[in-house]
Amino acid sequence: MTTNHQRLNQWVGEIVALCKPLNVHWCDGSAEEYRWLTRLMVDTGTLIKLNESIRPNCFLARSDPADTARVEDRTYICSEKESDAGPTNHWEAPGKMRARLKELFAGCMQGRTLYVIPYSMGPVDSPIAKIGVQITDSPYVVCSMQIMTRVGRRVLEALGDNGEFVRGLHSVGYPLTDPKQPDIPWPCNATNKYICHFPETREILSYGSGYGGNALLGKKCHALRIASVQARDEGWLAEHMLILKVTPPRGQPHYLAAAFPSACGKTNLAMLIPTLPHWKVEVIGDDIAWMKFGPDGRLYAINPEAGFFGVAPGTSDETNFNAMRALDANCIFTNCAATPGGDVWWDGMTRRPPAHLVDWLRRPWTPESGRPAAHPNARFTAPAWQCPVIAAEWQDPRGVPISAILFGGRRATTVPLACEAPSWSYGTFLGTFVSSEKTAAATGTIGDLRFDPFAMLPFCGYHMGDYFAHWLKIGREHDAAKLPRIYLVNWFRKSADGRFLWPGFGDNSRVLKWIVDRIEGRADAVDTPIGHVPTAESLDLNGLEVTPEDLRELLRCDAPAWLREIPAIRKHYEKFGDRLPPELNRELDALESRLKQAASA
Ligand code: GTP
Ligand code: SPV
Ligand code: MN
Repeated sequence: MTTNHQRLNQWVGEIVALCKPLNVHWCDGSAEEYRWLTRLMVDTGTLIKLNESIRPNCFLARSDPADTARVEDRTYICSEKESDAGPTNHWEAPGKMRARLKELFAGCMQGRTLYVIPYSMGPVDSPIAKIGVQITDSPYVVCSMQIMTRVGRRVLEALGDNGEFVRGLHSVGYPLTDPKQPDIPWPCNATNKYICHFPETREILSYGSGYGGNALLGKKCHALRIASVQARDEGWLAEHMLILKVTPPRGQPHYLAAAFPSACGKTNLAMLIPTLPHWKVEVIGDDIAWMKFGPDGRLYAINPEAGFFGVAPGTSDETNFNAMRALDANCIFTNCAATPGGDVWWDGMTRRPPAHLVDWLRRPWTPESGRPAAHPNARFTAPAWQCPVIAAEWQDPRGVPISAILFGGRRATTVPLACEAPSWSYGTFLGTFVSSEKTAAATGTIGDLRFDPFAMLPFCGYHMGDYFAHWLKIGREHDAAKLPRIYLVNWFRKSADGRFLWPGFGDNSRVLKWIVDRIEGRADAVDTPIGHVPTAESLDLNGLEVTPEDLRELLRCDAPAWLREIPAIRKHYEKFGDRLPPELNRELDALESRLKQAASA
């Protein structure tokens, strides 16, 4: 495959000269290419082919135990000015970082093939889509990118001779310097990992990891960190959000977007099977939304991805039947356990675990082993079209008009099941202090509570204070009546004895119904200091066994608990210095006085 795009050819030439690969291959995105590469990886032990009669065309990869999740402490925004990266990102001067990386990349692909992956984030014919080219030495990344994005010839055609593209250079950082040196199943670099973004020049340099968001550069690096900068410059939104279509019985569909931090329920909400009869939920996307205003003044969203890179543990026919059906064929599973019959298994997949497994660390495992069989951040990579509830319009180049945006996180206390913001600016205010318990999606301590504004803490490519300002500006510049309504939700509130108060999953359709009813002016709410919270009567609880006490707790605006959070929110705000839009502090003062009034009443 060749192109007349001079800048692209020149860049590939420079990288070949720097990284010194044995071969160069331009990816055409074909099924033959996928077959060739998966066969190659079976030979090196990177992949195990699963039983063809159980899971056709499926493979299991087990990573190096030190390369299992995003590495936030090794992720950098290398903007020209340190102040443009802001207090929530790691920063290094671009010149200094480039020099350091140049040393690491020099000769790093010896003995390997360099793959050039032209990919499109979004349907190739969409005006919202953007093109990137990733260079990598990992065939696992090539196959994953084939599932997760649109790859190949049609992308090069769309790029033409002079089109703009985001440059991504990736290496696992494990050269094979001796021609006789055998490869290992999961090459990566134990001592040096760098995930670097150069927002001004729209470049990504990723070294040392082969896993997920560190290595599939179209996803978090391009579609969020680089795209968020472009979105700020061009007046649109690049967000860590699912997109779903919800259709009431005999009613008109609404499209909703929802931002929850990593491993906090986006994939599950996007594909849920409503427990409410005759309600329908279909998926457009499960992780990222790119949203632009249409000629009618409404906000339209596309899913820039073409696949799901989803959390495996906890996914079952009961919790997420539709995801399970998307996994029946043509998938790559990573860090799951293997069954003796040649299938995969993960904790929670079936009620009863198999008697014998090989765990993700390749050790024998039985239910008595007392440890998880799959890594907590084990993932599936599945083509989106295979999901039985993929919406017919999921590839509509115009996108879908968004009626509501939801923010949420994992909060055992304080945050009610649902809460409506009376305005876009107040909804933005709520988004700025979303907090959540940390999950296994990134390395670090699980369970620690942290602020994760808009679920973008690890993904915003610029100063988070400017990001808040961008959201507020969008509210000022667009017709309030056409803007999506904003909601705060929390499926994870717990009782004093540590049990989830809300059943979650399919029953979250009850909250979706309340939101649709609010949009259509049918549902009641109580005005609380934090926002409009559902009344017990306005939630459809038909067929649900939830005690009145649990329901009261779920819907309670706990003023003293919120008041205890105010100092932490103030401290969180202080980080942003003079880049914090002043109206946010005014909103916070007003919230505090409302809470004080409520607490003393
Ligand atoms: P990323 O892909 O990391 O961005 O994660 P995600 O936001 O798509 O999270 P996902 O839907 O994969 O859910 C992560 C974990 O949360 C899984 O183990 C789910 O079983 C669990 N989960 C999802 N929805 C609910 C819910 O409504 N209630 C409860 N209790 N758990 C849930
Ligand atoms: C997340 O961590 O939010 C993910 C997985 O969706 S990764 O692609 O690794 O970022
Ligand atoms: Mn995610």
